[in-house]
Amino acid sequence: MVTEDEAMRRAIALAARGLGTTSPNPVVGCLLLDAEGEVVGEGFHAYAGGPHAEIVALAQAGELARGGTAVVTLEPCNHTGRTGPCAQALINAGIRRVVIAVDDPTPVAAGGAATLRAAGVQVETGVRRRQAEQGNIAWLTAVRRGRPYVTWKFAATLDGRSAAADGTSQWITSAPARTDVHTLRSTVDAIIVGVGTVLADDPQLTVRDLRDGTLAIKQPLRVVVDSSGRTPEKARVRDAAAPTWIATAAAVGTGPDGRVDLAALLTELYARGMRYVLLEGGPTLAGAFLSARLVDNVIGYVAPKLLGDGRPALVGAGVTTIADAIELDLTDFSRIGDDLRFTASLRQKES
Ligand SMILES: NC(=O)c1ccc[n+]([C@@H]2O[C@H](COP(=O)([O-])OP(=O)(O)OC[C@H]3O[C@@H](n4cnc5c(N)ncnc54)[C@H](OP(=O)(O)O)[C@@H]3O)[C@@H](O)[C@H]2O)c1
Repeated sequence: MVTEDEAMRRAIALAARGLGTTSPNPVVGCLLLDAEGEVVGEGFHAYAGGPHAEIVALAQAGELARGGTAVVTLEPCNHTGRTGPCAQALINAGIRRVVIAVDDPTPVAAGGAATLRAAGVQVETGVRRRQAEQGNIAWLTAVRRGRPYVTWKFAATLDGRSAAADGTSQWITSAPARTDVHTLRSTVDAIIVGVGTVLADDPQLTVRDLRDGTLAIKQPLRVVVDSSGRTPEKARVRDAAAPTWIATAAAVGTGPDGRVDLAALLTELYARGMRYVLLEGGPTLAGAFLSARLVDNVIGYVAPKLLGDGRPALVGAGVTTIADAIELDLTDFSRIGDDLRFTASLRQKES
């Protein structure tokens, strides 16, 4: 027997298994408990167009769901999209009580809780809401802002350098940190770099096993922000390993500085169904994103090395005095191999 709170914890963990493959949909996990509190079904939303978490769990439970409780990380949907409405499926299966962590903020899918209540189902919302919101932070932020959630990831030495004076930057961090980056990449819809990074490092920007180079089945879109189309024909980002978009000013629109309009770039990626993007550099593009306040989260890998000279991790972020420093809330730090990984979110006003 499990408590509803334990079931929600498990549902949040299940939801996370969909990270990286559900966009433009959220990640969702669901557990079904019978009247005695025994788990009779569980499921998560694995990919866009695939069955929703509730439907997977109901299929597993069959008749055992009747009279039971559904514990679900996001309000069951109320609309018919590529799949039918989950609220109705729960009613049809004879579910008596539904426990929800987070309300659905999208007008098209919301209203599931009201439909359930109208059918006489007992509904409780807000159970482990903060934890479930964290698990879905990219999607929730994206739908609220109408642009993908942006994580800026960088690697730097302890004195904040992202490349040495001669331009070399491979490799600042240790192998475990680089492996960690590939895990991070596997959770996003797109990886964004400036053309400066392509010209300097010729990165491949794929998700792969670093031991033998095996490519992951699902690859994020590679986006090179390249105002005038300087990306070389032979650049590795143009290979067949993953899809690529060379985002020129002509294709996206021109910002006030004559370069690619970054807000328009994100709007276009959102329109293509992307909800979570990883900004991988370099310092010029990161500075431009930060100064336009288009970054939500920062992940910094800091190596115990000193360079003294060389490129800083960030330039041109629009800060000239300490009072204007971009403030972050540290949400996590851990040791990865010989390096430290810091995760921090930007303080931004809700729009
Ligand atoms: N340690 C790390 O984490 C890391 C990560 C990446 C790169 N790096 C290092 O960074 C160095 C390259 O730095 P970088 O600053 O030249 O590269 P970058 O930031 O990747 O690219 C900068 C270029 O992006 C283009 N761009 C297009 N639209 C822009 C806009 N709205 N705002 C700003 N830039 C825009 C500009 O070229 P156009 O005007 O021609 O479009 C600009 O010169 C290399 O040494 C590389 O090794 C380090």
